[in-house]
Amino acid sequence: MRDKLSIGYLGVGRYIPSVKLTNAHLEQMVDTSDEWIIQRTGIHTRFILGPGETMLMMAVEAAKAALAKAGLEAEQISYLQVGVNTHLRFPSLATLIQHELAMKNASAADISAGCSAFIFAVENIFNRLHTDWMLGGEKNYGLVIGVDALSVVTDWTDRSTCVLFGDGAGAVVMGPVESGPILSIYTRTQGEFADLLYLDPFLSPALEDPETVSMKHRNGSIYPFLRMEGRKVFAVAVRTMISDIRSVIDKNNRLGNKPIEVGDVQYVIPHQANLRIVSAVQEGLKLREDQVYRDGVINYGNTSAASIPIGYVDEWDKRPGALEVDVAFGSGFASGAILRRMRGG
Ligand code: ACO
Repeated sequence: MRDKLSIGYLGVGRYIPSVKLTNAHLEQMVDTSDEWIIQRTGIHTRFILGPGETMLMMAVEAAKAALAKAGLEAEQISYLQVGVNTHLRFPSLATLIQHELAMKNASAADISAGCSAFIFAVENIFNRLHTDWMLGGEKNYGLVIGVDALSVVTDWTDRSTCVLFGDGAGAVVMGPVESGPILSIYTRTQGEFADLLYLDPFLSPALEDPETVSMKHRNGSIYPFLRMEGRKVFAVAVRTMISDIRSVIDKNNRLGNKPIEVGDVQYVIPHQANLRIVSAVQEGLKLREDQVYRDGVINYGNTSAASIPIGYVDEWDKRPGALEVDVAFGSGFASGAILRRMRGG
């Protein structure tokens, strides 16, 4: 039996699209105010796709930046997984990215798990890299991308959702590391809440079907829209994220790693949906304000599957060796957490 291999992050990258939407812009579009948005969500700005920008392009640019930071070439990647909810077509976004980057030695697939899709994708790649090492003694590399363009499925007449979301992509290269290992990963889903946060059915049997009444015409086409019962989602989000952090720590302890308690956690990068959710998680864990990442939601809004890897870029060289947890929550309700050491130190 081989000793465990330390697997972690070798490089990160992101792409933020070009069109900046301020709260003042949204005041022109729906009955809202800068004061309401900041008080209820913490969001100041978000960025959405502009002319010539696509989901593929955002993902490719984020991936290129992560590969450059890791000092690796695309053909060195064995596995590519893309956490994404808004690539409403096939083939998968992952295979299109593989082609764009000439990542010819990779097995590529998308994973849909709401705003937590990035965590689910990291879990898959972690397990594959670990298995390759334990069974075959191979040290391989993986690439994980979180990307979404919720602007495409946002109902821009619905003030309860359109102020919340932004587009973006974040990427991370995974492989053997000397510092900054991932210690444990925990994911779960609560399918009973599927009707609190969802995308309209895309393929409608007939336009007159009552099932499709909620769908709206835009530019002569039918688009599915995101629907959310925000207040109900909020309550479950806070308790699930706190509970998932406890679960990823329990898992670490069951795996035989050095035992850890919640009080040992030094930094948290939570999914950036709402600053009030971020603060509630911070308070629930008895952390100080400066121990929780919050710039993402303030500057970029809720970028769905991209929010955690976008945050990684801000945090890359900070807090060497600190014990850190990434935690996400989203449609499904799919949620999860990654316990790791930050690189360096
Ligand atoms: N501007 C002004 N007023 C508004 C706006 C707006 N943009 N949106 C809603 N309101 C009004 C409502 O109409 C309501 O008015 P009423 O009292 O007269 O009926 C009032 O504000 C309160 O509405 P709530 O929905 O109860 O407001 P709340 O404080 O819950 O904030 C929000 C809404 C921001 C959506 C919050 O509930 C939230 O963040 N929920 C969780 C979102 C989340 O975490 N989603 C999961 C990840 S997303 C994903 O997976 C894709």
